[in-house]
Amino acid sequence: MRLAIICAMEEELAAIEAALSLTLIAKLNKASNCYAEYQFGEHTLIMVVSGIGKVNAAVTTQILIENFAVDAIINVGVAGSLTRKLCFGDVVIATDLVEHDFDITAFGVPLGQIARMDTFSFAADAKLNSLLEQISLVSNQLVLGRIVSGDQFIDDGQKAVFLHTEFAALACEMEGAAIAHVCYLNKIPFAVVRSLSDMAGQDGQGIHSFNELKEMAAERAALVIKNLLERL
Ligand code: ADE
Repeated sequence: MRLAIICAMEEELAAIEAALSLTLIAKLNKASNCYAEYQFGEHTLIMVVSGIGKVNAAVTTQILIENFAVDAIINVGVAGSLTRKLCFGDVVIATDLVEHDFDITAFGVPLGQIARMDTFSFAADAKLNSLLEQISLVSNQLVLGRIVSGDQFIDDGQKAVFLHTEFAALACEMEGAAIAHVCYLNKIPFAVVRSLSDMAGQDGQGIHSFNELKEMAAERAALVIKNLLERL
């Protein structure tokens, strides 16, 4: 299988590289990013740091699809929790994703609905998700649910509650829905695996918690990917 892994930040990709033993095959630079191709057992992994935000993520996803003949794409990294039922290090596997900052409500269209698109949310691949949901972590929960993405770091408890209520979402980040959107347009299966680094500002746990816990959360997400690869 040819599987691509997109992380937004170097810290997130470094955690995956540390968890796996990989053999480098080739590197390709495109649009300011480096696409590294590795052999991992019988599989080929293409790993890239996209940069932060929806545009970076979308460009990277389209480049992967057009240049690497990928069978599936997995977005891995950290996220903010939108519910107190989940804690730092817990992992959310996206059932589906919504761009929470896409706003044409002035036309009477629900918040998050992409203009003239035939779906409200982008559904992750059922086969990948059924493998992912079998993974159990020793010290953390692993749950499936909606993830929302936007070009905003959420560090505001009220906004976190709003996103949870409006979208019934468990976590927020800044790339997953853009990757999902591009995969949907190209009919490429995808999954999004995010471990919680902060509470998106709830109980004052926002940016400080992100800065302190992002490496720990990235390690938890990487552990899930290691487990997934062993099951493929
Ligand atoms: N990634 C990790 N935490 C986040 C947050 N609170 N908002 C947006 N993206 C994030």
